[in-house]
Amino acid sequence: MPSIDLTVNGKAVSVGADGDTPLLDVLRNHLGLVGTKFGCGQEQCGCCMVLVDGRPEKSCGKALSTVAGKNILTIEGLGTPDRPHPLQQAFLDEQAGQCGYCLPGILITAKALLDANPSPSRREIAAALDDNICRCGSHARILRAVERAAARMRPGSSPGGSR
Ligand code: FES
Ligand code: FES
Repeated sequence: MPSIDLTVNGKAVSVGADGDTPLLDVLRNHLGLVGTKFGCGQEQCGCCMVLVDGRPEKSCGKALSTVAGKNILTIEGLGTPDRPHPLQQAFLDEQAGQCGYCLPGILITAKALLDANPSPSRREIAAALDDNICRCGSHARILRAVERAAARMRPGSSPGGSR
């Protein structure tokens, strides 16, 4: 089987899988990146969201062949326990989430939003996260966490940031 080349979290990888294989399966089963979650498998819940060349995409509905040569960012590439991304720190600070299952997808979508719009309004944050479902109903804290991260990431803000 020919392999398909792509870049995942800054690392070049070559995947020997059928081109129809969903990117989500490739990430989880071939590359061991299990932070990206399987929820509905039908592009309805957003918990499998990854960035493809900077754009949020549902990896359960994305065939491997369509991401050949592209740059993929998964939750594993966002930050580390020692050096969390400001979004991850803000979600911790706000205790945004209960079971946490939706959060990898939400964090990835939020990163795409803040990359494009560093000062989103609450309405813009809610609109950006419209495709991400949180079954625990943590929406209010999630919105506050994205606002907190945006404030912290703005030039001139202190590392501790404020709400
Ligand atoms: S698992 Fe992909 S959108 Fe639900
Ligand atoms: S925190 Fe449980 S689904 Fe969102």
